[in-house]
Amino acid sequence: MSDTSAAPVIRLSEYRPPEFLVETVTLAFALAPETTTVTARLGVRRAAGTPAGAPLVLDGEGLALRALRLDGADLAPERYALHSHHLTLRDPPDQFTLETTTEIHPAANTTLSGLYVSGGNFYTQCEAEGFRRITFFPDRPDVMARYRVTLTADRAMAPVLLANGNPVAHGENDDGTHWATWDDPHPKPCYLFALVAGDLIAVRDRFVTRSGREVQLAIWVRRGDEDKTDYAMHCLKAAMAWDESRFGREYDLDVFNIAAVSDFNMGAMENKGLNIFNTRYVLARPETATDADYRGIETVISHEYFHNWTGNRITCRDWFQLSLKEGLTVFRDQEFSADQGSRGLQRIQDVRRLRAAQFPEDAGPLAHPVRPDSYHKIDNFYTATVYQKGAELVRMIASLLGPQRFRAGMDRYFASCDNRAVTIEDFLEALGAGAGVDLTPFLAWYATAGTPEVTLAEDYDSETGIFTLHLRQHIPPTPGAPNKPALPIPLALGLLDAETGAPIAAKLAGETASSSATRHLLLDQPAQTWHFEDVGRRPVAAIGRGFSAPIKILGLSRERLRFLATHDPDPFLRWDCLQRYASEILLADADAVRTGAARAADAGLIAAIAALLDQAAADPAFVAEAITLPAETQLAEEMAEIDVDALHMARESLRAAIGRALAAPLRALYENLRAAFSPAIDGAAMGRRALANAALSYLVAGGGDEAIAMAVLQFQTAPTMTGRLGALTLLAATERPEREAALADFYARWRHDPLVLDKWFAIQGMAPLPGAPARVRALTRHPDFTAANPNRLRALIGSFAQANPVGFHDASGDGYALLAETIAAVDPANPQVAARLASAFGMWRRMPPARRTLMAAALAELAGRPDLSANSREVITKMLAPSPSAGGVTRH
Ligand code: TRP
Ligand code: ZN
Repeated sequence: MSDTSAAPVIRLSEYRPPEFLVETVTLAFALAPETTTVTARLGVRRAAGTPAGAPLVLDGEGLALRALRLDGADLAPERYALHSHHLTLRDPPDQFTLETTTEIHPAANTTLSGLYVSGGNFYTQCEAEGFRRITFFPDRPDVMARYRVTLTADRAMAPVLLANGNPVAHGENDDGTHWATWDDPHPKPCYLFALVAGDLIAVRDRFVTRSGREVQLAIWVRRGDEDKTDYAMHCLKAAMAWDESRFGREYDLDVFNIAAVSDFNMGAMENKGLNIFNTRYVLARPETATDADYRGIETVISHEYFHNWTGNRITCRDWFQLSLKEGLTVFRDQEFSADQGSRGLQRIQDVRRLRAAQFPEDAGPLAHPVRPDSYHKIDNFYTATVYQKGAELVRMIASLLGPQRFRAGMDRYFASCDNRAVTIEDFLEALGAGAGVDLTPFLAWYATAGTPEVTLAEDYDSETGIFTLHLRQHIPPTPGAPNKPALPIPLALGLLDAETGAPIAAKLAGETASSSATRHLLLDQPAQTWHFEDVGRRPVAAIGRGFSAPIKILGLSRERLRFLATHDPDPFLRWDCLQRYASEILLADADAVRTGAARAADAGLIAAIAALLDQAAADPAFVAEAITLPAETQLAEEMAEIDVDALHMARESLRAAIGRALAAPLRALYENLRAAFSPAIDGAAMGRRALANAALSYLVAGGGDEAIAMAVLQFQTAPTMTGRLGALTLLAATERPEREAALADFYARWRHDPLVLDKWFAIQGMAPLPGAPARVRALTRHPDFTAANPNRLRALIGSFAQANPVGFHDASGDGYALLAETIAAVDPANPQVAARLASAFGMWRRMPPARRTLMAAALAELAGRPDLSANSREVITKMLAPSPSAGGVTRH
C-alpha cells in the first residue's frame, strides 16, 4: 500500500545536511515472490556538527522488521521506536554498524516502486524514494555509500542475478538456490540501487574505452525478444564513444547492463551499471517499431547512459535539484542525437515538444520553476519543466559561452563536483569558473515559473541609417508567484532587407565594423533599446533564430511571419514562422467558426506549402516538419477560452483545402517517395517516410475514394511499421468500413506483441470520431486491456485524454467521467501513474462554462475521496486552487 491523503510539504528553504552518514552498505536478499527477506548492514557515522544524543531517523515504508542489531547485539526495545514511515534509534554511538532484517512482498507490490515482480522476474525502482520500500535507510540523495550486494534465489526461477557494479562471486547452495555477489566501488545515493533477477537472456557486446578498459555490455530481455536489441546496443556504443569525444567522460565499471521490463512507470532508470528500461525504449525491429520509436530508443538509451556522469558520479544534494541531473542530461542526449543525425531537425523536434508539453504546463495550475521551492510528492515533479525547460536553460548558457568555454566549464564541473551531491548553484559556479564568465544572473531562470513573453517595436530612420529595436519582457503570473524579476534573455537575430529578403549589414554600437552575421543580444531589463547603424535600407529584424531562449516572441504580424518563413537563412526560424503563421490563420478561422462569422480561406499558406513541396527532394525531413500544421492541443494554448470543436473544424478544413488544392503535386511527391523506398533506419530514409506519411495524410484529408485506396494499399504493403501505422492512423480517423477492416487485420497480426498492441489501442484512443468516449470505454473492456500495465494504460487512456481533444472534451462529459473513473481505479494500486493521468484536467478553467463545470465536478469528486493517494491529491488540489491572476493569464 502507498501512503494516502496529504503528505507533508517539503521546502527547499528547510534543507538541512544529514546528521548521520552511511559509508558502507552490505545487502543480502533472499528473493522469493511472496516474501523476500532483506538483511542490511550499514556502516553509520555521526556527521561533524551533529550534537551527541541526536537520534538516527531512518525511512522505511511497508517493511516488516524481523531483527535489529547494533554492533552485533540485539537492540533493546527502549533503544528504538518504529513508526509507519520511520525507524528511530535513540542515542546511537558516533560510529557503529546497524543490521536490520526486514521482509517485503514483491509479488503484491503494484506500485512499481521498490522491489516488484513483472512477468515472473524481480526488478527494482528506487528513484525517487523507493529504496525505503526495500530496507530502512536515510533515503535522501546526499547520503552516498559504497554497496556490496548478495542475491540468493531459486536457480530455476531466477537463473540470472544482477545488481549494481561489478560481479565478484557466485555459487550454488544445496537447497536448489544459488547466489551472486556484486560490488559497486563508486559511492552512490540509494536511489541508484538496483537489482534484477529472473529468467532473462543476454545479448552481449563489448566496448573498449579510449584508455583501453574493456567493458562487457549486455542487454537482458525475455526469451523471444533477443532479436530486437540491435538498435539499442548500437545506440549504447555510440553514446559511450560520444561522451568520450564530446565531454571527455569515460565509463567507469567493468560491466554495463541494461534490463528491459514491460511494467515500468517511466521511460527508464539510470541505476549505476544496471540501467532498467521500459521495453518500449529497448525493443525494436522495422516491422514492429516506428521511426519515432527508433528515435525514442536513441534518446533514452543515451540519456540513461549519460546519467553515469551527470546524475550518478555527480548527484543531487536534494530533490529540488532534480534538474541538475535531468535538465543537463536531456541537453546531453539532445546534443548526441543532433550529432548522430540532423542538428536542424533535432532542434525543430525539441522545440515542438517543449511547446506541446512544457508551455501548457508553465501556463497552467501545475506551473513550477525548473527548481521548485516546495513539493508534497517529488514523483509529481518529473515534469516537462524540470526536463525540457531545464535542458533549454543549459542550452542557453552553452550557446552564450560557445563550445570551447562551455567545454572548459563542464570540465571544471566534472573535476570539482565528482563524487558529491551538489546544487544548481554549484553547477553554475563551476561552469562559470571554468568558462571565465559569471553565470549567477542565470540562477533566476531556475527560480522563475512561467514562459517569458517578449514583444518588439522598431524604428527606421532612412536619413541617418539608424535602425532602432525596442524589446520588452513580461512574465505571466503563476500559482504563488504574481510578480517576476526580469530575466537575462539571450536573443539571436539578424537583419533582412525588407524588399529582397537578403541579409543586410549593420553596425551595433560598440562593434568595429558592419556585418550581416547573427547578433546575440542579452535582454536583461524589463525594456531595452538597441541602435543599429549604417543600415542602408529598411530592414526586417529576424528575431528568434535557433530558439535561443525558452520564451514566446509575440506580436509579429502575419506579413512578417510569412516573410521570414520564406527568406530567413536559419531553417529553424523558417520552420517556426511558418508554424506561427499557420497558427494565426487557424486561430482566426476557429474564431470565425465559433462566432458564425464568414470564413475566408488563406491562399498564403497553401502557396507556402506548395513552394516547400517543390524543394522536398533536398530535405524531405525538414519539409515534413514544415508542412505539418500545429497540433490542436498546441493551438488551444493560444485561446483565452478553448473551443475544441471550432479548432478541430478549422484545422481539418484547412487540411482538406490543402489536400484538394495541392492534390497533383502531393500525389506526384508521394509516388516519387514510394519509388525511392528503403526500409533503412537512417535519417534519410526516415525523412522520406515522414514526408510520404504527411503527403498521404493531406491526400486523405482532401477526400475521395482514391486517397483511401492509397492508404489501404500502404497499410497492407508497407514493409515498415512507420508506413503501416501512418496509414492505419488515417483510416482509423474515418468512419468508413476500411477502418474496421484495417483495425481487425492489425489486431490479428500483432495481438501477441505487447508494444505493437499498445499502438493499436493508442490509435483508437486518439481517433477524433463521434462518440469517442463510448468507443474508448468499450476498449477498456477488451480482453487485452489492463490498467495494471502503465504502457497499456497510457496507450489507451493517456492518448485519449492528451491527444484527442474533441473526444476527451465531448459535450456529454463522458470523456471526463471516463478519465476520473480510471484515475480512481488506478490510484490505490499505482499512485505515480494515476497522478500523471490527472494532469490531463489541467486546462479545465479555460474551457467554456458547461465543460468547465463538468471538469470541476470530476475533480471535486476525486478530491473528496478520503483514500486518495498523496500523489493524486497534490496534483488535484493544485488544479482546484484559485488561479493566480483572477482575470486569467494573458492570451493572444
Ligand atoms: N531518472 C529517470 C530518468 O532517466 C526517471 C525515472 C525513472 C523515474 N523511473 C522513475 C522518476 C520513477 C520517478 C519515478 O529520467
Ligand atoms: Zn533522466
